Amino acid sequence: MIKYCNECRTFFMDGKDFTYAVRVNSAGYLTRAYYGKKIEHANLSYFNREIVTSFNTGIPGFKKQYATIMQEYSTEYLGDFREPALVPVDERGSRVADLRYAGYYMLPVKPAITGMPTSKGGETLVIRLKDTDTGLAVYLYYTVYEAENIVTRRAVISNGTSGSITLERALSFSEDFYDCDFELMTLWGHHANEKTPEITPLHHGRTTIGNIRGTTSAHHANFTALLRKGTTEEQGEVYSTSLIYSGSHYESVEVDECGRTRVVSGINPESFSWKLASGEEFETPEAVLNYSDEGLGKMTRQYHDFFRANLVNPRWVNERRPVVLNSWEGMHFSFDRDRLFDTIDCLKDSGIELFVLDDGWFGARNNDKAGLGDWVCNETKLPGGLKAIADRCHENGIEFGLWIEPEMVNPDSDLYRAHPDWAIAVPGRDAVPSRNQYVLDFSRKDVVDYIKKAMYDVISTSGASYIKWDMNRPLTENMSYMLPADRQGELQHRYVLGVYELARYLTLEAFPDILFEGCSGGGGRFDGAMLAYFPQIWSSDNTDVDDRTVIQLGTTMVFPMSASSNHVSLSPNIRNGRPSPIATRTNIAYGGTFGYEFDVRKIPESELKGIPAAVEKYHEIDDIVRNGDLYRGTDRTQGNESLISVVSKDKKRAFVVYYQALNPHKMNPVFRIPGLDGKTVYRIKELGLELPGSVLGNLGLGIGRFRNDFGSVLLTLEAVD
Ligand code: GLA
Repeated sequence: MIKYCNECRTFFMDGKDFTYAVRVNSAGYLTRAYYGKKIEHANLSYFNREIVTSFNTGIPGFKKQYATIMQEYSTEYLGDFREPALVPVDERGSRVADLRYAGYYMLPVKPAITGMPTSKGGETLVIRLKDTDTGLAVYLYYTVYEAENIVTRRAVISNGTSGSITLERALSFSEDFYDCDFELMTLWGHHANEKTPEITPLHHGRTTIGNIRGTTSAHHANFTALLRKGTTEEQGEVYSTSLIYSGSHYESVEVDECGRTRVVSGINPESFSWKLASGEEFETPEAVLNYSDEGLGKMTRQYHDFFRANLVNPRWVNERRPVVLNSWEGMHFSFDRDRLFDTIDCLKDSGIELFVLDDGWFGARNNDKAGLGDWVCNETKLPGGLKAIADRCHENGIEFGLWIEPEMVNPDSDLYRAHPDWAIAVPGRDAVPSRNQYVLDFSRKDVVDYIKKAMYDVISTSGASYIKWDMNRPLTENMSYMLPADRQGELQHRYVLGVYELARYLTLEAFPDILFEGCSGGGGRFDGAMLAYFPQIWSSDNTDVDDRTVIQLGTTMVFPMSASSNHVSLSPNIRNGRPSPIATRTNIAYGGTFGYEFDVRKIPESELKGIPAAVEKYHEIDDIVRNGDLYRGTDRTQGNESLISVVSKDKKRAFVVYYQALNPHKMNPVFRIPGLDGKTVYRIKELGLELPGSVLGNLGLGIGRFRNDFGSVLLTLEAVD
């Protein structure tokens, strides 16, 4: 609910448990008046923490200093001195914008951002700020999601001046807190080790994260959380943000000399500038601001509900997902038609429902040195083409899936030989390869149009009902052959818009009934925007159970469980040599969308035989994976164990995965099960026990010792009528 109090010039935005208030102060600035636990609406102008200090600048005609204003969309160069959200440079070279309140209006439905995924939403507040001296205006958009305790924010920058303006920075939001009594949680990582939660103290000065790789990256999620000190899974205030964007991003948390905290987030200014002609507008990506008064657990559940209801492609959000076998870990590039046929024949009656042919089926792609860009099946390797592989799958009662990497080109490809200027590069300078490939210049419409057609031709004739869209290198050199010098700073953002256009076309327009899985060397482009096209994303190239408990912990900290694609692979793990029992590999993979990735020639007979039962079990619980509430017990970043409890919305069913890394001597695992209804009696199928939720949640369970390291147990719970 959004209300404007005329008398106190304050906008109150209320969710179920929070209030967010912005006030126009006496100098006409839009200021953060309050954000936190729900309060009654009152005139908040009495609250004054505007400390006047020396060596600061004053505001002509007012008693205030710029440096003390709790700016709702910050600018610099007048004396704020903290992180600006906006840096507009006009033709004179001026970087000053003195943004004052200039009115508001309400929209009944949240408008979409042009060319970028936007969450669905209802009533939307738009506040207009205007520069005191020029025609520059900023529109701030706010939408409240009451049940999820979320506010979304974004900005539109409008050039109402008579000349051009170059935006050197146009972030999605800034927000000020009166104090700094927080710790900061981020999700850092790298390839094969994505999204490790890290909690650090705040300090005076700026803590910045983000990246300039052109994608969200495996290195930092576009997420921050301010945790009140002492916050746990169940207690404490958490103010977190998640950016709905898939390119280079920037997050900064700054504590100033007066002990106040500013958070900003948006497109990374280091790899961005945007020239706005007179009369043009720039729309920033949307950011999700999530308030929890009950710790990290509630934050997570609110994100999951929000993304599922408002962003994930509705065609797939509740759809049963097929259990796949992906060819990559099992065969890499070494396959021909006979080997694929042998594999597919082995899958008959195995319980596996779809075979994914990964990299290596097209052009001269016999290793990663050639062929990207030549999207025609290699019929020397695969006589009869993709159709023959798909037919073989269908004869064996399973579906067929295919890997693509549409944004890339190998220099050793017909596409590159024909169009060297289609790659992102500095003209006349040797481009830097990564995995022997270059990035196609998706800022160009002709390039995107060509790839649209190439993809349409191959997918529409392939017989595939699933596509894995990969992206395997960062952007460097950030130049387009097509852009003029003063617009080269636009390359990265234009590239992201090109990716969205291709994704929109393929997933929503051309093939709405094909399930698309996202991937970028694993979870390198895992963000809210991608979910609009890819209801599931390959979380990591690392399938080791112990590493996966942390990768999936970080991934599902923000994103719905069903978005995390998890595969069971062979032991010892191909990446780190760690052995683990098949039961644990299976149980850990149940914490998301479930599948397999192995060489059928190498899997032990006993493991192969167990697959039908494992798949059946998954389908018994997969509706809770898609719709349930995730509760975490202890996790692997804190100790030797991890526990997830996933509970249906009506609290009638649940499943629990308890995992222990090393097997301590003479210790029986004991754990509590969070998230159950206290009064309901649950039958635990695997243990033959019936106990009330309050007992399971407080006393908990003791189970027999594991025989090995990396033991785990899966429990399924059902309410007794
Ligand atoms: C990336 C993906 C893998 C696989 C390979 C193929 O690394 O994450 O799953 O598809 O590319 O080249």
